[in-house]
Amino acid sequence: MAKILVTGGLGFIGSHTVVELQNKGFDVVIIDNLSNSLISVLDGITAITGTKPEFENIDLKDKQSIKDFFIRYNNIEGVIHFAASKAVGESVNKPLLYYENNINALVYLLQEYKNLESSNFIFSSSCTVYGEPDVLPITEKAPIKPALSPYGNTKQIGEEILKDVCFKNSEFNVISLRYFNPIGAHETSNIGELPLGIPQNLVPFITQTAIGKRNQLSVFGNDYPTPDGTCIRDYIHVVDLAKAHVVALERLLNKKNNETFEVFNLGTGTGSSVLEAIHSFERISGKKLNYKFVERRVGDVISVYADTNKANQELGWTAKLSLDDAMRSAWKWEQKLSES
Ligand code: UD1
Repeated sequence: MAKILVTGGLGFIGSHTVVELQNKGFDVVIIDNLSNSLISVLDGITAITGTKPEFENIDLKDKQSIKDFFIRYNNIEGVIHFAASKAVGESVNKPLLYYENNINALVYLLQEYKNLESSNFIFSSSCTVYGEPDVLPITEKAPIKPALSPYGNTKQIGEEILKDVCFKNSEFNVISLRYFNPIGAHETSNIGELPLGIPQNLVPFITQTAIGKRNQLSVFGNDYPTPDGTCIRDYIHVVDLAKAHVVALERLLNKKNNETFEVFNLGTGTGSSVLEAIHSFERISGKKLNYKFVERRVGDVISVYADTNKANQELGWTAKLSLDDAMRSAWKWEQKLSES
């Protein structure tokens, strides 16, 4: 079975994707520098699949280490590139760190990988490239808007770099996957989201509040022009998202792609407000969540949700799990974390 490199494979989406790859029989090697992940995630993956993936503690900013890696592993048939920094607020305060981690690392990885005969590359992109959309749901044809943060800019630039590399080399095939809001955890609770410090994202903040790690959830704004006044997002279960990576990879390996650079939205197609997300959590947990409304958060878009027709039709992939399923798994995971 093909050998696949997963960078950032110990992170939230990366670890779930490694599981789905292994479930399909792929031979996985992970590169991760443990900057925002724990080595114990390797055991979590192994507990689920029964196979320990190979692991290399490499920082992708270290060019020589990448070169050495591809000498040792000269049979990589596909790369799924997750390794990147992802906190929007932090990126505003530390822009150069974000350009270094997300752009330099991508370039160095491509410089070594593109030398191989036929290269297949899956890129972690984000719905953030669309900014505040003019039309909902958002299709892949929607215009790319000026980025609202350095993080968002790194995703736009990353896609541009990949497009240029594809243009130059017809043997280089890329699928860029634009994620909406990934949440949830594996149903076994062996892997899940592990935010370091105070969570920036909604769902880990909800579960940490419910378990007592945080006092109260602040809901950022209730005066938006939406039915209940709170922002709307497309929350997608991380396991559905992980499965889409396997499908996208198989498309490249089987040479089923229509163009050398392709883009797909990965969402459920359904928008949920912050209050609907809270109510989903309350429903599945049977707990009342302590929350209050506060000022809007700078940089938040009002409403984003995906048009998933392209992914449904061309990839043959559809998100199957519901918001409640995702909340249930996230809550089970939080409870497991609190036991250890
Ligand atoms: C952001 C990025 C997305 C990135 C993701 C991962 C944008 C537009 N989106 O998503 O590209 O992949 O982070 O880090 O830049 N909320 C609260 N209270 C909280 C936390 C969040 O009310 O404590 C609200 C937010 O205002 C928002 C929703 O919950 O309406 C989701 O927020 P969050 O989970 O942070 O994700 P995004 O900002 O949508």
